[in-house]
Amino acid sequence: MTEGLTDQDAQSASAEREEFSTGSRGPSERDSPQNAPVSPQDGDPDVSRETAAAGGYRVRTAAELAEFAEVIADDETPLARATEHTLMARQQSQARPPLPRPASTRVMVVANQKGGVGKTTSTVNIAAGLAQLGQRVLVVDLDPQGNASTALSVEHFQGTPGTYELLVDGTALNDVVQQCPELDQVQVVPATIDLAGAEIELVSVVAREGRLKKALLGSGRVGDESLGENRWDYVLVDCPPSLGLLTLNALVAGAEMLIPIQAEYYALEGLGQLLKTVDMVRAHLNPELAVSTILITMYDARTRLAAGVAEEVRGHFGDQVLRTYIPRSVRVSEAPSYGQTVMTYDPGSPGALSYLEAAREIARKGTNA
Ligand SMILES: Nc1ncnc2c1ncn2[C@@H]1O[C@H](COP(=O)(O)OP(=O)(O)OP(=O)(O)O)[C@@H](O)[C@H]1O
Ligand SMILES: [Mg+2]
Repeated sequence: MTEGLTDQDAQSASAEREEFSTGSRGPSERDSPQNAPVSPQDGDPDVSRETAAAGGYRVRTAAELAEFAEVIADDETPLARATEHTLMARQQSQARPPLPRPASTRVMVVANQKGGVGKTTSTVNIAAGLAQLGQRVLVVDLDPQGNASTALSVEHFQGTPGTYELLVDGTALNDVVQQCPELDQVQVVPATIDLAGAEIELVSVVAREGRLKKALLGSGRVGDESLGENRWDYVLVDCPPSLGLLTLNALVAGAEMLIPIQAEYYALEGLGQLLKTVDMVRAHLNPELAVSTILITMYDARTRLAAGVAEEVRGHFGDQVLRTYIPRSVRVSEAPSYGQTVMTYDPGSPGALSYLEAAREIARKGTNA
C-alpha cells in the first residue's frame, strides 16, 4: 500500500494523530527527551535511519497526496489514510528558495458567508506562507471580531486606527497599517470593534462600496513593478461571515477570490448565494472579479466524509481547488492564542507545512513559476 511507509513513520504518524484528537501535548512535552528525534543525522523524527540510509525514501508532498485522495483504496483503513495524510504533510521543512514576485499586486478576497470555515486561519497562515516564500504581504482585517489582527499580534483595542477609519473616515492606508512583529514581510490593517458600526455608517457614505479599493490604490503600494521594493505583492482581505457592505467593499477591491470550504457535511450549503453575489458584483461593480482559489480546510483524513466532500467540491470547481488540503490540527487552532500563526508557532507541524504548500500553489498560479 503506502510506498516507503515504515513502522517508525507509522509510529510518528500515530503520535500526530493523538495530537489531532486530544490536543493534550504542549510544545514542551513534544520537545522532551522521550520525544526526541529518532534520526540522529538530520534531526528529522519522521525519516528512519534505515530508510534515510537506503536513500530510496521519499515523503509525499501534501499536494501530491491531495491528488491521491481519490486513489486511496476503499479497502484501506481510516488509520492508514490518516497515516498517509500525516506523511504527506511531513515534507521537507527546510527553507525554500523565494518565488518570483507577481507582475502586479494580487488582491485576494478571502470570503465565505458561512461562519467558522477557516477564513481567518487561512488568511493569516497563507500570508505567513507567502512571506516565507519571499513575498510582501498586506493583510486587511475586515471583520469586527478582529481575529486576524489577534493572530498577527497587532494592536487592535477600541480606538486603534484601522479598517474603520480607512472605510468610514477616509484615513490614508499608510496611516493605519501596522507591522506584524512575528513576520518581517507582513503588514496589517487591524480591525477593532468599531468596525461593527461600519455596515450601517457606510450606507450614507458616497461610493460606499468602493472605499477599500480607493484606499488600496491611493497607498502607492498596490500595483505593478514600477512602484519598487515597497510594493505589496499580495493583499489578503479577511472578510466577516456575511455578505454586507464590508464584504462588498472587498469584492469590489479584489480581482481574485479565495473561498475556504470546510470539509464537512454542510460544506456547499450557502455557496450558491455567495456565487450569485460574485456574479452580481462582476456584472455591476468589478468585471475583473473571479473565484480563483478554493481551499479545503479542516480535512480529517480519518473520515470518509471528508474525502467525499472534497470530491464533491472538486467536482463543482475543478482546477480552482488547490491540491493541498489543510488538515484538522490542534496546532492550527492553538496558534492564535499565542498571537501567532501556526507557521511560526509550530513550523514543522502538518498544518504549517500544508499552509506553506498552499501558499506555494497560490504563488505559482500567479506567476507560472
Ligand atoms: N485546520 C484547522 N484545524 C483545527 N482547527 C481549525 C483549523 N482551521 C481553523 N480552525 C479553528 O476553527 C475555528 C474557526 O476558524 P476561523 O476563525 O479561521 O474561521 P472563520 O471562517 O474566519 O470564522 P468566522 O466566520 O467567525 O470569521 C477557529 O477556532 C480555528 O482555530
Ligand atoms: Mg474569521
